[in-house]
Amino acid sequence: MKQIIDEGIKSPQKFLSAPVLTKEYCQNAIKLVLKKIDRNMEMFKDKYPAPASVNNIYPAIDNIDWTSSFWTGMLWLAYEVSGDEKYRKAAENQLISYQKRIDERIYTDTHDLGFLYTLSCIAAFKLTGNTEAMSSALKAADLLMVRYFDKAGIIQAWGDLNDPGNRGRMIIDCCMNLPLLYWAAEITGDKKYYDAAYNHVKQAARNIIRDDASSFHTFYMDVENGQPKYGKTAQGFSDNSCWARGQAWGIYGFTLSYIYTGDWELIELNKKVINYFINRLPEDFICYWDLFFTEGSEERDSSAAAIAACGLLEMCRNLPLTEENKRVYENASLNIINSLSKGYTSVNCPESNGVLLHAVYSKPDGKGIDECNIWGDYFYFEALVRLIKNWKLYW
Ligand code: GLY
Repeated sequence: MKQIIDEGIKSPQKFLSAPVLTKEYCQNAIKLVLKKIDRNMEMFKDKYPAPASVNNIYPAIDNIDWTSSFWTGMLWLAYEVSGDEKYRKAAENQLISYQKRIDERIYTDTHDLGFLYTLSCIAAFKLTGNTEAMSSALKAADLLMVRYFDKAGIIQAWGDLNDPGNRGRMIIDCCMNLPLLYWAAEITGDKKYYDAAYNHVKQAARNIIRDDASSFHTFYMDVENGQPKYGKTAQGFSDNSCWARGQAWGIYGFTLSYIYTGDWELIELNKKVINYFINRLPEDFICYWDLFFTEGSEERDSSAAAIAACGLLEMCRNLPLTEENKRVYENASLNIINSLSKGYTSVNCPESNGVLLHAVYSKPDGKGIDECNIWGDYFYFEALVRLIKNWKLYW
């Protein structure tokens, strides 16, 4: 792997301590999430929240976007923490739409098959042994494999594989889609899924992560000769800036690939990626939507904060006690979760059907700016669940 600069922790005193988030505190925070889920269950029975809210209210859409499974995943988390069958039934009711989506190829021209099938069908399989769900997820893994370019060792993110604007474009977010392939390798015993995922994450480490441990959002590879081309942003502030959510996807995603491959270099890299992220957190620990901004009036992205909080906790689970910055990462995560729960939820916004306010979907596209977004809600919930139990990954 190439040499990447480690900034270290620039303000260690900021992470010396963290609030004690007791089980009771987290359970109370979870109560708010369950309240919102209960309220949404009728509206999102056979429909799904749109990726971002409009005036803090999610419109209902069909299972057509990359984000449907965050809602289904929240239902599974709700089932796990409450044991209430109504959540299991609601999640199971949705599985048919994932089956239909993969069988009929409804908006499946995307690497986000990973998100879509991990939090819906794989979660169902892991929690309840549902073999129909397993088979839908395996079909999704096969379709994701179609997006893999062998010579470049990458999975193309979006769109038609022959579209010149998208051909050979990989993105940092994809690190979170790889568990679908690692899982498929385990279930089928076929190593091709593992090889594709592992090759992709190594290419992401080489090319998407810059020398200073920040990330490009997207990076073009020449799929004919396998050579790297150039980085470009889609949702960040500029091609050279570091989109906060991208860095957060990396933090969680590199750890997940380590879990499946045992490749410690991914952890070594991730420490640097994490340091870059936490060095740019403002006073209240909630990142701006792009890490170029560290103060001022730009919007925060609460969803990036929630993703990073989960990624940091998972990283800590995999670091030995002797690891120098393990406590720093844990404290960073707890401070983020505390700040989200104290200042970013919709508790004082009863009209909202979202959980976390103040996220940004895509500022350059003018989409979902200072709104709720459904993955932010999911990851905030996952973070809280992690704090009350030894949560087994759906990923
Ligand atoms: N994966 C797309 C996003 O984070 O907006």
